[in-house]
Amino acid sequence: TITPVLLCGGSGTRLWPLSRKSYPKQFVPLMGAETLFQASARRLSGTAMGPEGALDFAAPLVLTNSDFRFIVTEQLGLAGIDPGAVLIEPEGRNTAPAILAAALHLMAGNPEAVMLVAPSDHVVPDAPAFHAAVARGLGPVSEGRLVTFGIAPTHAETGYGYLELEGPVGDGAPQPLTRFVEKPDAARAEDMLASGNFLWNAGIFMARAADMVAAFREHAPEIFAPVEAALSQAKTDLGFLRLDPAAWAQAPDISIDYAVMERAGNLSVVPYQAAWSDLGGWDAVWRESGPDESGVVTSQGATAIDCRDTLLRSESDRLEIVGIGLENVMAIAMNDAVLVADMRRAQDVKKAVEALRAKK
Ligand code: GDD
Ligand code: MG
Repeated sequence: TITPVLLCGGSGTRLWPLSRKSYPKQFVPLMGAETLFQASARRLSGTAMGPEGALDFAAPLVLTNSDFRFIVTEQLGLAGIDPGAVLIEPEGRNTAPAILAAALHLMAGNPEAVMLVAPSDHVVPDAPAFHAAVARGLGPVSEGRLVTFGIAPTHAETGYGYLELEGPVGDGAPQPLTRFVEKPDAARAEDMLASGNFLWNAGIFMARAADMVAAFREHAPEIFAPVEAALSQAKTDLGFLRLDPAAWAQAPDISIDYAVMERAGNLSVVPYQAAWSDLGGWDAVWRESGPDESGVVTSQGATAIDCRDTLLRSESDRLEIVGIGLENVMAIAMNDAVLVADMRRAQDVKKAVEALRAKK
């Protein structure tokens, strides 16, 4: 069996005004009826039949903060998914401390446990393809390797990690990685894209809990002591496991990509060829929502007349949106806030959140 470790600590400011500090993007129904968190948990639950046999998922281990704990249990309950354990981080310390806490917790229960660390805010529409990729990763995992999942890059994105293969991607079989490069600058990203030997890191990691712990011990010893202390002094509270705040405060704020993946030598990659998106902005939501032949996406309560490459979405029960003659525009209406922006500036939406915060 594989234990899903679901990360849901992020704040998703680039999807404002739908994604809010108190209700970030993973917990809102962004695509379809379920929330991204529910869809992620469902994808990693029960028994999945793949071409290489059955995959059994244990109840998930969820890592989140105090504000989201009841949203997590409520949404899992509504989706009919056994909640498993919920670990509460006293404050956000990025993914490295969170994943180490999960690995130590799982290892204490079963040293052989296999963990599949997954973000809870991605869109992975083809569950069978995803399960097949996970199944292919189990071979390298059983050899003590840390397995990543690689996406064919389409542009020189600087917000992702890059995985260097020894040669061409081939048919999807796992391969050893020669290098992991997190968030390169634009020039390096261009070079890696041009070389053809790189995939994007999907942000999903699979390993035996004990191997993950060993990698942290070797490559990120500074994280080890505070996280171990925070876990051993954790308190159970209404079924949640609350990490010790004083010990946790000593943990450095760093992602697993920098802390472990860039430093470790025993990485493998499973190339993932089906659709994947981290919904890193409204332009990605527009693309994933299936624009019509004019490139228009409208929600209920939105009407587009003679528009092109435009997203009009009303989440309000009061506001209708009508766009006329628009091109490359996105408009998102909530009851208390409306965003209107150039779609090509989708990454700048986080600046709106900063600007509003500064005004308060
Ligand atoms: N529990 C918890 N605690 N979760 C967290 C925390 C934290 O402190 N910080 C981030 N997360 C969650 C986010 O909600 C998200 O689901 C996931 O961990 C990854 O964090 P991001 O902040 O979104 O990372 P990124 O997008 O910059 O980069 C990662 O993902 C890319 C693919 O989307 C890296 O792994 C890149 O290499 C990768 O390409
Ligand atoms: Mg992300």
